[in-house]
Amino acid sequence: MNTTEVSLDAQWMPFTANRSYKSAPRLLASATGMFYTSADGRQILDGAAGLWCVNAGHCREPIAQAIARQAAEMDFAPPFQMGHPLAFELADRLVGMLPDGLDRVFYTNSGSEAVDTALKMALAYHRARGEPHRARFVGRQRGYHGVGLGGISIGGIETNRKAFSEQMLPLVDHLPHTHNVGENSFSRGQPEWGAHLADALETVVAERGAGTIAAVIVELVAGSTGVLIPPQGYLERLRAICDEHGILLIFDEVITGFGRLGASFAATRFGVVPDLMTVAKGITNGAVPMGAVFVRRGIYDAVCDASGPGVEFFHGYTYSGHPLACAAALATLDLYESEGLFARAASLERYWEDATHALCGTRHVVDVRNIGLVAGIELAPRRNAVGARAFETFTRCFERGLLVRVTGDTIALSPPLIVETHQIDEMMSVLGSVLDGVG
Ligand SMILES: Cc1ncc(COP(=O)(O)O)c(C=O)c1O
Repeated sequence: MNTTEVSLDAQWMPFTANRSYKSAPRLLASATGMFYTSADGRQILDGAAGLWCVNAGHCREPIAQAIARQAAEMDFAPPFQMGHPLAFELADRLVGMLPDGLDRVFYTNSGSEAVDTALKMALAYHRARGEPHRARFVGRQRGYHGVGLGGISIGGIETNRKAFSEQMLPLVDHLPHTHNVGENSFSRGQPEWGAHLADALETVVAERGAGTIAAVIVELVAGSTGVLIPPQGYLERLRAICDEHGILLIFDEVITGFGRLGASFAATRFGVVPDLMTVAKGITNGAVPMGAVFVRRGIYDAVCDASGPGVEFFHGYTYSGHPLACAAALATLDLYESEGLFARAASLERYWEDATHALCGTRHVVDVRNIGLVAGIELAPRRNAVGARAFETFTRCFERGLLVRVTGDTIALSPPLIVETHQIDEMMSVLGSVLDGVG
């Protein structure tokens, strides 16, 4: 790795072991289609869509051109008490893709901001309806909802909360997570066991009182916690319990939105519609930071109608609906549509499933699970070193020209939706041989 031209000292890197990274850096220099090129000139097959973002593949010309055009035409427009046409056009386009019932769009710059925005909307909604005591949130163990103080409070990844535990939101309960290798090992698609885990919400309701609960938030397929796929019937049950008790249901689709599961959104695939949905990443193919919250009109109406004249919702970001992000998103949606990428993901699912499950029996592999173009390959942890084996697998894959994502002892795979079957074969072949060599 040639790092003589760049000093690595000044940047405090996010979610990175800074000291060990800086002693053995992995630098990416450029990207196109399914590949990165590393700083030392190697081709790296992207098995992770960057970070669950680049669903249409890297450096797509129409997106790059749309961003360049917009940067030259209007670089920035203030989003408070002002607007620009692209932000409204994009909102209309997005609503056209959403499950029926979701028809209002609020822009953010990231998934974390989308999550904290959705939580605030839930509070504002109940207050507007005269139920301000509905202030409690229900998240889930192992949930990842970004890194805002709201997101880590309702999230359930202990490492992300530990250093900040004195300042978590106070009114939060967590449902059990749905992962159970004993019951659901090597499941293909939605596992059969586990719908009853949604009933834990009834327990929270019984303990706290329905009138204290504002919203429940879950990822549809949890990614950052090891690829956890919802058991059959689980989401339907959550929806029914929320309906029964007037609790809002928030689906966090930051990684599942925009074709990852072979449909526009996971909610579309699973046929369960939330009251609010958070997205980011694939909305612009990762090319410009952007997130959004999709909301039922009734929530928007309640908050607006309850307000006097003037600003109804005291919330927003300088870069909400940034012109470059809107231009990138519109070009991205055009690409998804013109290349039929969501249908492509659906048509590849069976091939992907068979290829990933062929790793069953490979050294260290204790579970393989998949849905859409996502797979989790779970490894047996090393004694007293959780995550170390998977991390070594990740670094060795990178040396062998394959980018994977690792969370705990699970390798998460989520290639761009343009992946070819021979590239899927290549990913499994590299991963299999790396696993054979990892101690
Ligand atoms: C489900 C989910 N929610 C929220 C986030 C946070 O998104 P961001 O990193 O854009 O803030 C992520 C990031 O991976 C995610 O997977």
